[in-house]
Parts: sequence; C-alpha cells; structure tokens
Amino acid sequence: MMEATQTEATSVSPYAAGLNWSSELHTGDERMDHTHEEFVTMLNALLLTPQTEQLNLYREFLNHTVEHFAQEDRWMLATGFSEDNCHAGQHATILETMRAVETHYVQGDTEIISRLAEALAEWFPQHAASMDAGLAQHLKSVNFDSVTETLADPSVIKNVTMSGCGSVSCS
Ligand SMILES: [Fe+2]
Ligand SMILES: [Fe+2]
Repeated sequence: MMEATQTEATSVSPYAAGLNWSSELHTGDERMDHTHEEFVTMLNALLLTPQTEQLNLYREFLNHTVEHFAQEDRWMLATGFSEDNCHAGQHATILETMRAVETHYVQGDTEIISRLAEALAEWFPQHAASMDAGLAQHLKSVNFDSVTETLADPSVIKNVTMSGCGSVSCS
C-alpha cells in the first residue's frame, strides 16, 4: 500500500527510463530480435533527449517502426495469415497513434513524445512475448527463413489460413 501511495505522489512512470535489452525480450527469431534491439535503443534514446529536442529522433523512430511492423506483416502474409489478422491490426493502431503524437507535438504539446515513449516501453515487452514470439514460433514451424524471406517448402502453407491471430492469443 505504501508503494501505491508513493507512486501516486511522485507520478514518475516506472517506464521513464525505458527498457533494458535482455534475453527476456528475445522472441526466438534472430532478425526480429535485431530489429527489436534497435527499437529499444531508439526508445531509450528518446527518453534521454530533452523534450524540446525530440522531433528529429522521433521521426527516425517512427520510420523505423513503420519498417519494423511492415517486416512482420510481410512475414505473416507470406506464411498464411490473413491480411486483417489482429497482430497486424495492433501494429496499425500503434502507428496511427504515433502519427497523431507527431502532429500534437508539432502543435505545441512537447510532453507528448515522452508520454508515448513511456507507454510504448510498457506495451512492448508484452507484445514481444505474445504476438511477436508467437509469430517467431510459427515461422519456425513452417520453415520460413526470415533472413532470405523464403519458405523451404511453399506447399506447407497452402492449407494454412489464419484470421485473427492464428495460434497467437489476441488478449
Ligand atoms: Fe515486433
Ligand atoms: Fe509485432
């Protein structure tokens, strides 16, 4: 109870310092993990940057996230997920929010990038451990090479049609 009171009183987010890149964030796919490590590094750098100077780095981070999510969406499509699966849907929602944050920041809300970065630091470990790790597992199970983006045997996914999240929980 003490802790709850202190958190309320200081209102400092436990995610204000960002995330530690550690094996807990690994998904089992090396290329995905490499992209995720870059994501975490940029997120942490944003939180260390004075709020009035965050715009350029934020735009770089947004572009990186567009590529990061597009990469996973592409792999899902290549391995039998339907286009409207909920993992891709979550990516689209995050990108929409990130673009709105850029607009608000430019309009004068200079705290909003830090607030979003803290929210992403809270969101990411859960997303990596569920949807991303689930995707990595699926890629392995159908022998998809994420480096060359090819299937060892394309016929294995002929009958795989996954809407929703396939084997991955949407919760
Ligand atoms: Fe990811
Ligand atoms: Fe993802």
